[in-house]
Amino acid sequence: MSLTNFPGGSGSSSTGVPITKVTMPALGEMKRQRKPISALTAYDYATSRLVDEAGIDVVLVGDSLAMVVLGHDNTLAVTVDEMLHHTRAVRRAVRRALVVADMPFGSYHGTVAEGVANAVRFVKEAGAEAVKIEGPRAELVRALTEAEIPVIAHLGLTPQSVNRMGGYRVQARTADTVHRLKEDAHTLADAGAGALVLEGVPREVAAAITAELTIPTIGIGAGPDCDGQILVFHDLVNLTFAPPAKFVRRYGDAAELIRGAVERYREDVERRAFPSDEESYHLPEAARKALQTERVATQKVAALRKA
Ligand code: KIV
Repeated sequence: MSLTNFPGGSGSSSTGVPITKVTMPALGEMKRQRKPISALTAYDYATSRLVDEAGIDVVLVGDSLAMVVLGHDNTLAVTVDEMLHHTRAVRRAVRRALVVADMPFGSYHGTVAEGVANAVRFVKEAGAEAVKIEGPRAELVRALTEAEIPVIAHLGLTPQSVNRMGGYRVQARTADTVHRLKEDAHTLADAGAGALVLEGVPREVAAAITAELTIPTIGIGAGPDCDGQILVFHDLVNLTFAPPAKFVRRYGDAAELIRGAVERYREDVERRAFPSDEESYHLPEAARKALQTERVATQKVAALRKA
């Protein structure tokens, strides 16, 4: 049995996409072969299953769930336990894609040992195959790599730095900051990062970093020249209740679909059009007759009592 294929499977998903497990080394190979990497966030069983069946290469359990699933104003509040809970649900759904857990704010901002201990929880307790961390933390990337935990680094607009940055702004717009970003990208790659998310940086800067690095870059708001692209699932299908950022392309309108379905359901309940007889369970013939006889008898007794 090959360790890279699922046992018993036909070798392809319902959409015909071959089920060959995506691994961190496979992402590097995709870069070498110039094959674009598709990545998307997902946070629960149902959507992760659909995302995986659609052939997406990387499923990120992003800390963006703090905002799009839990309704917080930013990503800072989500805890390790909440992230573990969602990562487990995603893990149960995904067969092919690489499952990456986002380390939440505070879980790797203390000592390197604490960061490694928290990352180990994502692998051991939730089945993550890699973790993602924000910022230029080469020492932690090295320690995680030594602990056999593949790491995706994340530079540019790093949402966990929202208070330091004073908002969500495009980064690396001056010669100095571009230079620093490039240096950080190289340092993280040298430390062992398997891939690099570049968020909210000018296209030209992402293109230059992508050309220089041997590890793949995965862009979000970083232009089309990265080795791959990632979006937040809720942005893709219009479930964010806010105007989309410039870099978001909406591929569907789940808000419209869900609102319409729920309204039709409510209307049907209110006019007693749901459920129909066909949507009801029925007694077998004999039990139905017995029930009918019992009802007639009860009515007779009631009538006699009245008389
Ligand atoms: O949390 C997240 O969703 C992310 C990305 C989209 C890269 O970090």
